Amino acid sequence: MIDLTTIPDLRGWVRTRRREGRRIALVPTMGYLHEGHLALVNEARRRADVVVMSLFVNPLQFGPTEDLARYPRDLPRDRRLAEERGVGALFVPSAAVMYPPGSETRVVPGRAGGRWEGVARPGHFSGVLTVVAKLFHLVEPDVACFGRKDVQQVVLVRQMVRDLDWPIELAVVPTVREPDGVALSSRNAYLGPDQRQSATALSGALQEAHVAWRGGERSAQAIEARMRRFLEACPDVQVEYIAVAEPDALAPVAEAEATTIVALAARVGLTRLIDNIVLGEGVV
Ligand code: PAJ
Repeated sequence: MIDLTTIPDLRGWVRTRRREGRRIALVPTMGYLHEGHLALVNEARRRADVVVMSLFVNPLQFGPTEDLARYPRDLPRDRRLAEERGVGALFVPSAAVMYPPGSETRVVPGRAGGRWEGVARPGHFSGVLTVVAKLFHLVEPDVACFGRKDVQQVVLVRQMVRDLDWPIELAVVPTVREPDGVALSSRNAYLGPDQRQSATALSGALQEAHVAWRGGERSAQAIEARMRRFLEACPDVQVEYIAVAEPDALAPVAEAEATTIVALAARVGLTRLIDNIVLGEGVV
C-alpha cells in the first residue's frame, strides 16, 4: 500500500494504474476504521482491480458546534487495517491540501438534502458532496463505494452523479452491525458502557418496525408510533426524528412497502447516532 498526501501524487498514481488498464475503486472515509468501512473495501476489491481509500475528517461537513475537533482518529491503526484488507493507495490529505486558502465553491445538494440530517445539520450535505465531488475528480474512479448506514448520503451522492453526468458506478454496501444489532460507527467510540447498551434502542426500534410490517401493518403513522413507544421506554435515548420514506428521494410515504426506508436519529447521552433499514429486510 502506498501513502499519498498530495493531489499531484494521487493523480500520478491513479494515472499509472489506469494506463495499465486497471479498474479503479474509490472508498471515501473519515477514518477510525471499523468493519463497516472494511466491508466497503471488500466490495471495492470485488468490483475493481485497485482500491483507493481516502481518509479525511472533512471540516466542511461539521457544523460549528459539532465534534470536528474530537472526532476519533488513529492513523497508524487505520493504515494497518487498510493495508491488511488490500487497499492499494491510502490518500490522507491535510485540510490545506483539500481546501487551500481562497477555495470557495460548494456543491448544493438536491432536494433530499433538505430532510432528516439536513434539518439537524445545516450545511452538512453540502460539505459531504463538495468533498466527494473533489475526490471523484481527483481519482476518476470506475466505481465508488458507500454504506447504506448513511442512506441519505447515498441518495444525495447518487443524485449528484446523475445530475453531473459522472461516469461512475455506485456500490451501496449493507450496514454492518455488532451482534446486538448496533450499527458500527466511528462515533460509537464516544459511548460509555451504559450508553453502549442504550444504543441498542435504535436498531431495536427499527426491528419493531420490521416486525410490525411483517405482521401486516402498512400504515407509516402506526409504524412510527410503535417505534416511538418502544424508544420512550429506553433510558437515556432522545429521539430526534423517525422517518418512513420511499427509497429514491426519501419522500415520506403514508403506506409502507417492502422497499420503504425507515430511518431515525437519536441522542444517547450527548452522542448523536443514526440508523435505518429497508422495511422488508429488517435489521440484518
Ligand atoms: P465515514 O463516516 O467515515 O463513513 C465512510 C463510509 O463508510 C460511508 O460510505 C459510510 O456509509 C460507510 N459506513 C459507515 N458505517 C458503516 C456500517 N456500519 N456499515 C456499512 N457501511 C458503513 O460517511 C463519511 O465518512 C463521510 O461523509 C464521507 C463520505 C467520507 C465524506 O466525507
